[in-house]
Amino acid sequence: MIRVSAPALIQVGSGLHPKKVAAPCHGALYWTVMARVVSALRIGPHEIWPPIVLAPMSGVTNRTLRALYKPFGFGLTVTEFVSSNALQFGSARTMEMIDQHGLEQPVSTQLWGNDPAIMAQAAKIVRECGADIVDINFGCPAPKVTKTEGGSACLRDVYRCEAIMRAVVAAVDCPVTIKMRLGWTENDLVFIDVAKRAQAAGVQAVTLHARTAKQLYRGSADWQRIAELKAAIDIPVIGNGDLTDAHAALARMRESGVDGVMLGRATLGNPWLVSALRALMNGEVPAPHPSAADRLRFAVVHYETMVAEWGEARAVPQMRKHLGYYLKGFYGASDLRERLMRTLTAAETLGLVRQTIARLESVPECAVA
Ligand SMILES: Cc1cc2nc3c(=O)[nH]c(=O)nc-3n(C[C@H](O)[C@H](O)[C@H](O)COP(=O)(O)O)c2cc1C
Repeated sequence: MIRVSAPALIQVGSGLHPKKVAAPCHGALYWTVMARVVSALRIGPHEIWPPIVLAPMSGVTNRTLRALYKPFGFGLTVTEFVSSNALQFGSARTMEMIDQHGLEQPVSTQLWGNDPAIMAQAAKIVRECGADIVDINFGCPAPKVTKTEGGSACLRDVYRCEAIMRAVVAAVDCPVTIKMRLGWTENDLVFIDVAKRAQAAGVQAVTLHARTAKQLYRGSADWQRIAELKAAIDIPVIGNGDLTDAHAALARMRESGVDGVMLGRATLGNPWLVSALRALMNGEVPAPHPSAADRLRFAVVHYETMVAEWGEARAVPQMRKHLGYYLKGFYGASDLRERLMRTLTAAETLGLVRQTIARLESVPECAVA
């Protein structure tokens, strides 16, 4: 028989939604109510729970990865960035970048470009193709993007940023968001100016990767700047940069007051980081980190799904880097990584990974947790 105890509701803020879980208590099952410790992220009509966003990563966050990683606890995933110019031609390669899996809604589709009219046209195209949110990239520091005044180079001209945002907001009937860096250099920290223009233009959320464009990935993301941004505007702010640990990410979120956090590199090969963060946000104790063998078992699922969806010729090179991420922290990983780099077929690679799983299970102490 299930007995229902009085709910032990711990409300740690406003707008939080308690969740019922069955918890064993003195041999009987009692209903206790776990309390979310942060609020859902609201972007227009979308209530995003948990407020954890998978960072857009070019060449990485294709529809397969988004669909595979979302169940670990991402409330929102973002496509890799797509050129607004390329969308006008609609090549198969461009269109597959904005393609969705069907399992990862809501999806935010990210665009880059320097021309307000072309960005508006591109926004209409991606909206017609199912984007729930259109995100504008004001953050990419790669020369192939900035030499045409796209990505983070837009931050050198806040009027251009504003014109792009106004044109895109006017073009679509869904929320528009922006993702930006602090500014082009440390002498031009325009992020608050651009965010205020965004708010006035009708943009519905701002993500800040707290580095300058010139920094690329050097130094550390400056979360103090993220807190300053949160205090300066009323629309939701998503903080991004260097979140590698679930407890630290939740602490960053609370200290800066942001409405959501975006995680990128640290989740590659380690989506369990996101499950741990989701558990903390739900007021729960995170599950233990999976064993090395279980992590590799998931890597096999990832590999097989990529081969099934993209074909072997495209999946094998892409999966080499992912296997490298899954192997982080393993005893003997560098030797195995080297052998995996030399395999040419999926069967050969998966054979090697399966042998490793069997070895880890027979001598579990070989694996570093
Ligand atoms: C391989 C790679 C590709 C990226 N591609 C994009 C992109 O297409 N659009 C974008 O806004 N940011 C892109 N970024 C930046 C990430 O979204 C994120 O802002 C950055 O990695 C910092 O977050 P992290 O420290 O959690 O990784 C990329 C980063 C990496 C490592």
